[in-house]
Amino acid sequence: MTLTAASLIKTATGFYEAQALYAAVELGVFSKVADGPVPFERLRDDLGLHQNVAGDFLDALVAMRLLTRDASGYGPTAAASAYLTPGAPEYIGGFLALNQRRLYPAWGDLTSFLKTAANLAHGAKVDDPMPALYATPQRTRSFAEGMDGYATLLGRPISEKFDWSSVKSFADLGGCRGMLTTRIAAAHPHLEGVTFDLAPLNPLFDELVASTDLGTRVRFQAGSFFTDPLPETEVYVIGHVLHDWVESQRRQIIQRAYDHLPAGGALLIYDSMIDDQREESAFGLLMSLNMALLSGSSEYTIAQGEGWLREAGFQVDSPVALNELTTLLIGRKPQ
Ligand SMILES: C[S@@+](CC[C@H](N)C(=O)[O-])C[C@H]1O[C@@H](n2cnc3c(N)ncnc32)[C@H](O)[C@@H]1O
Repeated sequence: MTLTAASLIKTATGFYEAQALYAAVELGVFSKVADGPVPFERLRDDLGLHQNVAGDFLDALVAMRLLTRDASGYGPTAAASAYLTPGAPEYIGGFLALNQRRLYPAWGDLTSFLKTAANLAHGAKVDDPMPALYATPQRTRSFAEGMDGYATLLGRPISEKFDWSSVKSFADLGGCRGMLTTRIAAAHPHLEGVTFDLAPLNPLFDELVASTDLGTRVRFQAGSFFTDPLPETEVYVIGHVLHDWVESQRRQIIQRAYDHLPAGGALLIYDSMIDDQREESAFGLLMSLNMALLSGSSEYTIAQGEGWLREAGFQVDSPVALNELTTLLIGRKPQ
């Protein structure tokens, strides 16, 4: 793609769109229009928008293909209904809120960070970020909702792109409150699933499972993937976890997974991996900087991930694209 001055200006002002999207979610625009078109004045007043800006804001959402507008008022587009309406199966609002509250401010002084990288882990070990994230029940919930907002999107491709027919059980290591576990288990009624994560997530897992009909087919196991025995299942999933840690810690997690899996078992790893030439995956590379900003860690290339899997003893399938942002690696423990 050839860049023009106009396209550079669109990049430079991309945060206008991001902030309009965050505000629309925060204000509850998509809940208000979920049941059909709402006239302008009513929507403006229900949302508490000032009349001087309401028209431009709502029409900008139309131009961004988030709202429709006709004589009866504003309604949701198909994308807004699928991804931005609370309660929709692929609702990503929690992830957007996490970006709005935590990531947007963290990116605010990237220039200084690029010169100091003050929090970087010096290659040794990332300090565990979880105690701060889980310091209060409210913080735990908002982090978990942020993770839910991405995991909801991956449930379908992981359920479809791995052959689950020959296994009976799986565990999602670092599976947060269990969103992915519930999605895989719902898609494959013969499976039993375990969410393995730190104890503060357990009540939120219970709350999520109570809203499903999965019953005892899914359960929570509290523990650390660095020190505790891992669940006894045939498949492990580790997603958006390795990018929280540095290389030695990633190797340790993968080796422990290999050691705990039965012969013939599989390890599925997903992340926003970087292409091996490090020149195509702008999202993966920027996400890598994001991880550096947040916790001093990084993303990694597909070849690096494959290398760690092989080093642990796994045979590695060809990489699978779960969506345009996320790569899945599958390691198989030999029979
Ligand atoms: C970035 S989140 C990813 C969550 C989920 N897998 C997803 O894709 O949305 C990382 C997860 O790893 C968990 N975690 C961190 N340290 C852990 C440890 N030592 N043992 C088990 N889980 C841990 C966190 O609690 C969190 O749920």
